[in-house]
Amino acid sequence: MPGLIVVGAQWGDEGKGRIVDLLAADVQMVVRYQGGNNAGHTVVREGRAVRLHQVPSGIMRPGVLCVIGNGTVVEPFSLLEEMDELAGFGCDLEVLRISRAAHLLLPYHQVLDQVQETSRGTQALGTTGRGIGPAYTDKAARVGIRVEEMLHFDTFARHFRAVAQEKNRLLVALYDQPPLDIEAMLERLRPAAERLAPYIADTSLLVHQALRRGDRVLFEGAQGTLLDIDHGTYPFVTSSNPTAGGACVGTGMAPAEVTGVLGIAKAYTTRVGSGPFPTECRDDVGEHLVREGVEYGATTGRRRRCGWLDVVLLRYAARLNGFTSLAVTKLDVLTGLPHLRICTAYRCGGMVTEEWPPVGYDLADCEPVYEEWPGWSESLREVRRWEDLPEAARRYVERMEALVGLPAHLVSVGPEREQLIVRRSPWGT
Ligand code: IMP
Repeated sequence: MPGLIVVGAQWGDEGKGRIVDLLAADVQMVVRYQGGNNAGHTVVREGRAVRLHQVPSGIMRPGVLCVIGNGTVVEPFSLLEEMDELAGFGCDLEVLRISRAAHLLLPYHQVLDQVQETSRGTQALGTTGRGIGPAYTDKAARVGIRVEEMLHFDTFARHFRAVAQEKNRLLVALYDQPPLDIEAMLERLRPAAERLAPYIADTSLLVHQALRRGDRVLFEGAQGTLLDIDHGTYPFVTSSNPTAGGACVGTGMAPAEVTGVLGIAKAYTTRVGSGPFPTECRDDVGEHLVREGVEYGATTGRRRRCGWLDVVLLRYAARLNGFTSLAVTKLDVLTGLPHLRICTAYRCGGMVTEEWPPVGYDLADCEPVYEEWPGWSESLREVRRWEDLPEAARRYVERMEALVGLPAHLVSVGPEREQLIVRRSPWGT
């Protein structure tokens, strides 16, 4: 019963999509366990890029059952658009299943997210504006509407009207906004519900059955460890749990079914939105990383903030998630930088610490302590074997492995499927 969880080790955008796409060649099921259409996974195939937001990255591999788990929030209109786009790309959507227990992200959530962000002014979180926070708020407040309710549209409509009326009162009284047209929203929702109905399933049972059969199942997180609502850089986080524990809660899999946890780490660090970022480079190095790494968000197109590799964060992520190995992505982006820096500790309140900031201190109070490594100038894009990498590139990855205490089984050197060095299978076989 091999269940492998794939988790972003930093602030998201580590390249999980392309790693899941690769691993999916060898699995029977891929399950998304949290997040919604805030996520954006770019998968490049034959020079064409496909952006996945809610559909698991396994959809690019024929025959792999793709499950949107109960821990996600499902935005019906953009999901249908994504499904149409994928069908146009030749993907078979018969393999898609949506958890009956996932919560719906509805139009009022998106409007609320945007007006709440605006009202925060300079304290804005930099959300994707997709409605994620308000949708998870409703789930926790037990006023959310679950996917399964769409199967009985009249009951759904009654529930929807009641919740939407309350949201309208909030929008008008608190945020000085016009009320939303509830009946117009329902008119759009009816055909969407009909189209999605055949995909709704008891997905926790499907996951359980697959694991019992001995199928290989991949659990795919969106976002990354530092955006976890409990363990991330709160409040600059998303509203769910991308960390490995979230895979159990967000799919209905039992913890003992997990056989491995693969951490995906970029060879440097990026983040989108607001919040502390100790190794951020606001200089030529930052420019280099944005330019060579094409560091723009797949969902919002926002320029990502870029900086040096931070192994204090990676060790924290390794501990929280129980990583069994690493995939290092975008090593090629570092080509051309004469020297590379790795943050090994923080200076914080007169102390030097190799761990997450001590109680009473925030990541924003931390100054990075660096060690410096030589760079390389050779292009890595054609390299397919570890031993063919320039020595400086190997030493950089080996130093990262030593500092984090984990092997890097996969190293990516470009966005295409084949631009990958596989040193060992992350399944441990
Ligand atoms: P939300 O998830 O839209 O509420 O946004 C909360 C924070 O998570 C913001 O800083 C976003 O930029 C960040 N975020 C959400 N989804 C992603 C993602 O897929 N990649 C990177 N950052 C993300």
